[in-house]
Amino acid sequence: MNVTKAELVISAVKPEQYPAGGRPEVALAGRSNVGKSSFINKMINRKNLARTSSKPGKTQTLNFYLINDSFYFVDVPGYGFARVSKQERQKWGKMMETYFTMRETLKAALLLVDLRHPPTKDDVMMYEFFKHYEIPVIVIATKADKVPRGKQQSHAKIARETLGLAAGDLLILFSAETGQGKEEAWAALLPFLTE
Ligand code: GTP
Ligand code: MG
Repeated sequence: MNVTKAELVISAVKPEQYPAGGRPEVALAGRSNVGKSSFINKMINRKNLARTSSKPGKTQTLNFYLINDSFYFVDVPGYGFARVSKQERQKWGKMMETYFTMRETLKAALLLVDLRHPPTKDDVMMYEFFKHYEIPVIVIATKADKVPRGKQQSHAKIARETLGLAAGDLLILFSAETGQGKEEAWAALLPFLTE
């Protein structure tokens, strides 16, 4: 994919703010700090268009990035960050559920998990949520640069098994540091973006 244009169109918290126009969308999901915003930046060759941080909880809204005037990446706040109140967690849950269950232009979800560790309970719940709502899901195992090449496949196997990945579902090893998996991720996404 040759990305020539990428812009943040809106940071939304409610459906009235989602962009109109009917262009296809792919949304990110995953734990706080797993690398969702970094994934977007790497895919579109931008250093910090999607704001990243070493502190979890950086992304707080649904951020719609319009790419090449033709489709959106939607960056979402992460889950599993301990230092948030119950009230904040409920607000997050409602915003996510509304978006993922009602958005007709959502074509696929990218579920990001950390390749270094087995997926968490929250990761498994998120995967099952997508399955339940029949949202196509591609798993991206991030921070692959932190796992020696020789160990990556065994970590990937653990991730597949822990998530209970369905037969046809892809798991792509990815690094926002080295660009590993970038072309594979574009190839997996392309069928969802051309409608
Ligand atoms: P929230 O917005 O809090 O939900 O986090 P996020 O999932 O958007 O994570 P973000 O992209 O902000 O990255 C979190 C931290 O992990 C940053 O310090 C990144 O530099 C680092 N990081 C992300 N991806 C990678 C990767 O592939 N390799 C390495 N080594 N570090 C990464
Ligand atoms: Mg983020």
